[in-house]
Amino acid sequence: MKVPLIDLRGQHLSLRTQLIKAVERVIDSQQFVLGSEVEAFENKVAEYCTTEFAVGCAFGSDALLLALMALDLKAGDEVITTPFTFFATAAAIARLGARPKFVDIEPQTYNLDPGRVEAAITPHTRVLLPVHMYGQCTDMGRILEISNHHGLPIVEDAAQAIGAVSEGRRAGSMGQMGCLSFYPTKNLGGAGDGGMVVTSNQTFRDRLRRLRVHGGVTEYEHDEIGINSRLDALQAVVLKVKMDHLDEWSEARRQKSLFYNRLFLEAGLDQKITLPFVAPGNQHIFHQYVIRIPKHRDSLLKYLFENGIGSKVYYPVPLHLQKCFDYLGHKNGDFPEAERASLETLALPCFPELTEEQQLYVVEVIGKFPFGD
Ligand SMILES: Cc1ncc(COP(=O)(O)O)c(C=O)c1O
Repeated sequence: MKVPLIDLRGQHLSLRTQLIKAVERVIDSQQFVLGSEVEAFENKVAEYCTTEFAVGCAFGSDALLLALMALDLKAGDEVITTPFTFFATAAAIARLGARPKFVDIEPQTYNLDPGRVEAAITPHTRVLLPVHMYGQCTDMGRILEISNHHGLPIVEDAAQAIGAVSEGRRAGSMGQMGCLSFYPTKNLGGAGDGGMVVTSNQTFRDRLRRLRVHGGVTEYEHDEIGINSRLDALQAVVLKVKMDHLDEWSEARRQKSLFYNRLFLEAGLDQKITLPFVAPGNQHIFHQYVIRIPKHRDSLLKYLFENGIGSKVYYPVPLHLQKCFDYLGHKNGDFPEAERASLETLALPCFPELTEEQQLYVVEVIGKFPFGD
């Protein structure tokens, strides 16, 4: 049996007619970049995320960059974030000349540990940038308290977490701005790249709209230098069609994750691997179903591959140990939980169309893996 890490065919097949119609509409309209289709999608995302506004852009990476630009982040500023995330999170900070100030993660959720944030605040701290890893919100209650107490704005990296809920609040709606990615493999993925910033602050909304078009007040008048990062109408219409199914897909991912948990427990495999943990008050969207294997992660990855099962490590090198961040002066041992997570975690196939037979096979194969002691 073959079990890919993700397979989008089922999703696209069921929506094929609607998707093709939507694409034809854009081609006939000749309005390919921004415009009314993008606006309609922005409104839909804002409503879904329970924010007042949404501003589409070219990538989730640019959403982060634009949000930090809208906060006037500059050289010498520090942004508190996690070293256990996709590269884009810290890159957006560094691109503006600011410093990523890493804080270690909670071992169970893999998210920024709020208990360590205050100790990292300095007179240069300008922004808190939690990342909702794998589709589960960071402990935002604590982060919001720190934000209020120190007057620090929050930018949420919700690239993996559209629709996730923390204490009744949607990912992206809790900070000043929330950043989304529509990379094709995300829970809401386009037919190409796309990103968005959600916010309930009109000043930020207006600034973001200018910043994404080179900072233009009008087409040829620039009071500041922005970037060129616009959302395509083709992506907007594809995403808008898919969005009607987002909740049902995320629910299906949750069900798959519960089924995995049950199978692993029944097989006694919870003694060998650590299952995903959902913190109380959180609704996880299981963008990834991630297990932890203390000693044999890389051999398990290889073994799964040999048995036709896709799996992947997100992320094998924590950001404080990336060569490009040598100048921050970090070394192995600085963020032990992030380092341990990068050595021990593995994402298993978890997508809405994954079948019970495929899940049974994944667990059966893992059950036969020689874990040793
Ligand atoms: C946590 C996180 N932040 C940012 C991004 C960047 O999004 P994009 O790939 O759309 O630029 C991603 C995408 O994988 C991500 O997972």
